[in-house]
Order: sequence, then structure tokens, then C-alpha cells
Amino acid sequence: MSARPDVLVGFMGAGKTTIGTRLAELRGGAFCDVDREIERRTSRSIPDLFTDGEEAFRDLEESVIRELVEGAGTAVIALGGGALGRHGTRRLLAERARVLFLDAPLDVLWARVEADGGAGTRPLAVSRHRFEDLHLQRRMLYMTAADAVVDATAPPDVAAVACRDAGTVRTGALERIGELADGRRCLIVVDAPVADRVPDHGPRVVLPGGEQVKSTATLELLWRAMAEHELERRDLVCAVGGGAVTDVAGFAAATFRRGLDWASCPTTLVGQVDAGIGGKTGIDVSAKNDVGAFHPPVAVLSDPTLLATLPDREWSAGFAETLKTALVAGEPLWPLVASWPVGRGPDEAHPELVRRAAALKERVVASDPREAGERAVLNLGHTIGHGVEHAAGGALLHGEAIAVGLAAALDLSVEHAGLDPVVRDEALRVLTRQGLAATAPGLAPDAVLDAMRADKKRVAGRHRFVLLEAPGRAIWGVELDDAAVERAVTRAVA
Ligand SMILES: NC(=O)c1ccc[n+]([C@@H]2O[C@H](COP(=O)([O-])OP(=O)(O)OC[C@H]3O[C@@H](n4cnc5c(N)ncnc54)[C@H](O)[C@@H]3O)[C@@H](O)[C@H]2O)c1
Ligand SMILES: [Zn+2]
Repeated sequence: MSARPDVLVGFMGAGKTTIGTRLAELRGGAFCDVDREIERRTSRSIPDLFTDGEEAFRDLEESVIRELVEGAGTAVIALGGGALGRHGTRRLLAERARVLFLDAPLDVLWARVEADGGAGTRPLAVSRHRFEDLHLQRRMLYMTAADAVVDATAPPDVAAVACRDAGTVRTGALERIGELADGRRCLIVVDAPVADRVPDHGPRVVLPGGEQVKSTATLELLWRAMAEHELERRDLVCAVGGGAVTDVAGFAAATFRRGLDWASCPTTLVGQVDAGIGGKTGIDVSAKNDVGAFHPPVAVLSDPTLLATLPDREWSAGFAETLKTALVAGEPLWPLVASWPVGRGPDEAHPELVRRAAALKERVVASDPREAGERAVLNLGHTIGHGVEHAAGGALLHGEAIAVGLAAALDLSVEHAGLDPVVRDEALRVLTRQGLAATAPGLAPDAVLDAMRADKKRVAGRHRFVLLEAPGRAIWGVELDDAAVERAVTRAVA
């Protein structure tokens, strides 16, 4: 994206060097590991430097990081596990870098560190107990300093792509639009409720938002605005708004002059955890999302404080998608969502919720950008959910229909994929705490089944379901017999 270097942070064993080297290749720049750089400059090993005391080491580390970040000659910088303890470093990175937290469960990290020589090469890995304490402490630091979380259990090539495409989730993220534009022309397409939150970076088109903007009429309006402002192939479109606005503006960018760069700046919960990420763009012509293109944004900028003005109903609908993501992700998003309080919860918790949910989507998209396989797991709850949404004819928001679809998919998972019913019940409690219904009473089962038959996700006339074996273990492409599907739909509308 911009000239900011990417700074990788994470615990020992997260794979900062391996992933960082690959990320630097993707970005076409240089990679530098701060620990190795310090060893090179001092001709001493890190364990040896620690014998002079940790403070002295941290001083040296801080100055090397500053030099690398300000020097602008390095595209990707890997930080030692403890470097973020310094306030000055955290501030420098917030202003000048994009910080990516490579996260993996403790067991994975410990196993990697042990396999790599344990305390012999890592002075702080003296015991499992000490390792756990330190991990707990540092994780908070990483999470607060990060622009994005990246799943470090993914294969290094996938993790590197997820790093490259990871969004920035932080207060004031939209301020970075100027950096992205970097002298190019920039057309801002913005959803009306957030129009006054976007810094002035050029001409803008304000859209009313909501599903009705995903139309050919809006496309024409946007194409004409791009022509009027003389946007060329090298220029930029910034879409700021809910999923409807980012979908249509992304598609306008994909098609004008055969494709302009675009930045996605999602402002709803659905947008920040799902719609604004992953490069699917499109409009509704004779069915929902039936015309579109894969056109990944060059950057995703999410400011979680924008969610404060979101109507409660939109928040809840977004939480249904977040619950879906959490079930697919497993640790550590699922425990966070499973223990989420009633409603929005504390504002301070929003960045972590958004970063973790975005991380799952970014990882899945990185491994399967065009939905040839694994990306289908993101459709958990959507087979029946889409049928319900369609049959409800606009009475339910997408997320509200997905809540019903999820409940049905979890029932089917208990019956056909060995899901522990305790998990299903926990998920149902999450829905209740968000004021979401798990059924849509009053709809005709046949109407839902007819709508499901028309859904474009069917293969050779049969429904393919995504089912859950356990949180973090979704399976896709599962064919179920018609009787089982009919029973599930009947229960969903009872
Ligand atoms: N491209 C993808 O991968 C993908 C994934 C999921 C959903 N989607 C699409 O996203 C759309 C749904 O997105 P959505 O749930 O964001 O709904 P939306 O875009 O319809 O927005 C909901 C409402 O919130 C308003 N709004 C936006 N930001 C606000 C803010 N910060 N404060 C107050 N109001 C605000 C909008 O004007 C609108 O009225 C659907 O069209 C769906 O198909 C796309
Ligand atoms: Zn959805």
C-alpha cells in the first residue's frame, strides 16, 4: 500500500522471520530482523547481550528500530518479542508503520520454540511456566499496538499474503486515505451517515446507503463521476460505508477504465468483519449479488469508533456474521464472541473483535482468493440463511436471516457432523444476548426451500452445506438428503 514499512510483532515462535521474508518479496522490498541486525552490529549474540542486563539491550533495540522505520529503506521489519514494551517504540510505530501481530495459540508457539532449541537460543524461554506468563503479558501489548492480527498458524506463504492484504483497524484509520492517494486523483464514495467523518481528500459522491444502492443506476452515477473528475488507470477510488457502498463502489472501480485501484473503508460491523474484506464486489440485478467481479482493494481501512453511530439493529445483524466467523475461526475469536456481553459491549473491546474477525477472513481469502474451495467455509449458515432472507422479502436484515440460518446449520452439524450440542447452545445464547431470533416464525417452509433452490451456490441441483465439527473445524461441500434439509427448514420457521 503506502510507503509505511510493515512491522511484524508477535511472540517467539510466531514465524516473524519466515513470514517477513516472504512478505518482503511480495512487497518487492527489503526485510530486516531487528535481533539479527543488532547481532550483526555488535558482533554478539542476543543471549550474550542479555548478560549486560535487559534495559541496556532494550535501549539499543529501540534506537535500531527507529533508524529502520525512519530510514525508509526497509519494507518489512521483524521486531523482537519484547520490543513493544517501550512507549517510544509504540508511538513511533503508530505514526510511521503498519503493525501486524502474528498470532498463534500458546501450544503451537511453545512447540516451535522447543523444536528450535528452546532456552539455548531464546533467553526468555526458560520454562513453560515463564513462557506462558510472558505470553499473556505481551499479547495485550501486541493487540493494542497492532493495526491488524494475522493468523500465524497458516502456511508461511498464506500468512504472508494475509499480511500483505491485512486491513488497518484503528482509531483514525481514515486519516491514511491521504497517504494512499499519494498525489493520485482520488474519488471518495461515501455512505451518507458517515460523510462528515471522512477527511477531505478530493471530490466525493455521497450515497444514501443500504441495499438499494447496489444497482446499475448507482454504477452509472459513479462511472460518470469518475469520468467527470478524469480518473485514470493510476488513480484511486475510496469507498467509505456499509457493505452495500463498498460492494458497488468496488465494482465501479473494477470496471471503470478496466480497473482502478480502490480502498475499502468499511463503517458497519458487517463491513469491518466481512463485506469490506476479500475483494468480492458487485450489485443486484435480477438476484442478489448476481453481477460482480473479484477486485481486491489495495487497502482496507477500518475505524472501529465509527461503529458508535450504527443503529442497534445493524450492530446485531453484524454480530450474527461475527458469530459465524468465530465458529469458523475457533480460538481465540470464538471464546471472545461466546463471552461477549449483551449488546455492543465495551467500546474498548471493539478493535480486538474486529481485528480477530478480519484476520480469519483475510487468512481464508489468502488461501483461496476466488472461492475454489476453502473460502466456502465463510458461507456457514448462509444456505438456509439466504433462503430465509429471500422468503422474508426485506423484512429481515441479511444478518438477522443469517442468525436463523446459523442456528439451523448448527442443528444440522449436531446431527450430521458430530458437533457437541453444548457449542450449539452456547451459540444460541450469543444470538439471544444480541437480541437476534434463532427462528423466523411465520415464513412458509416452501418459500424458503424455493429460494434456496434458486440460490447460485447450488452445485448440480444439490445444496452443498457448510457444517461445523467443532469451533475452528468447519467442513464444506457436504451434501445432505432432501428430507434432512426440509426438516431443518421447517424447524427454522417454526
Ligand atoms: N463483498 C462481500 O464479501 C460481502 C460480504 C458480506 C456482505 N456483503 C454485502 O454487504 C451488504 C450489507 O452490508 P451492511 O450490513 O454493512 O449494510 P448496509 O451497507 O446496507 O448498511 C446498513 C445501514 O447502515 C448505514 N451506515 C453505514 N455506516 C454507518 C455508521 N457508521 N453509522 C450509522 N449508519 C451507518 C448505511 O447507510 C445503511 O443504511 C449486503 O449488500 C451484502 O450483500 C458483501
Ligand atoms: Zn453474510
